[in-house]
Amino acid sequence: MEKNARRRTDKTSARKVVRIRPGTKSVVLGVTGSIAAYKSAELASLLVKQGHEVFVVMTHDATEFISPLTLQTLSKNPVTASFFDEKENWRPGHIELADRANLVLIAPATANIIAELAHGLASHPLAAIALATRAPILIAPAMNGKMWQHPATIENVEKLKARGIEFIGPEEGMLACGYEGLGRLWKVNDIAFRAEFLLASQDNLIA
Ligand SMILES: Cc1cc2nc3c(=O)[nH]c(=O)nc-3n(C[C@H](O)[C@H](O)[C@H](O)COP(=O)(O)O)c2cc1C
Repeated sequence: MEKNARRRTDKTSARKVVRIRPGTKSVVLGVTGSIAAYKSAELASLLVKQGHEVFVVMTHDATEFISPLTLQTLSKNPVTASFFDEKENWRPGHIELADRANLVLIAPATANIIAELAHGLASHPLAAIALATRAPILIAPAMNGKMWQHPATIENVEKLKARGIEFIGPEEGMLACGYEGLGRLWKVNDIAFRAEFLLASQDNLIA
């Protein structure tokens, strides 16, 4: 009965109706040029399974590690990799995403994107979104242990934390570069769990 009524409404409505289930949130999933970028496929999948709208934004270098097509298919939304992908709307797509996001999650995050964010650079959509959004930002770094422990990275991370940006990981283990140490991407399930917690706590604030 309810199904038929819905079908009738859809037929008569001139506009496309997007139904958002209660609890559904928009997540911008930033993917950067790390060897761990392939793990973003599982992360995108988990976030979709958790019931969220996922919009993947990749750096140019990330596209060398994982195909935008894979992430587009798993996220069920177009992937942004350049300002010039944004031709659908009069409004710049990166600003649309920055405003729409309930969470910006960057996983994996390179030393480079961390430095860019610390310095407020905006030369590609992901960096611009991080500047323009007022949503919480969660960063899951992945890099060589010496890069992670370099004073420049430590300073950049401290700067971002002081601005309210949250970090998850990295963890210790065998790194792709052949070293063992601190620099592995945090477990994808735990990143998704933390993202869910940050999204759910927004409901609690509103209620
Ligand atoms: C095989 C390979 C693996 C890499 N893995 C990492 C990594 O895990 N973390 C990192 O910070 N940089 C890594 N890099 C270096 C980054 O790709 C490089 O700094 C790049 O400029 C990052 O660009 P982006 O932050 O715009 O994606 C890797 C490079 C190569 C060739």
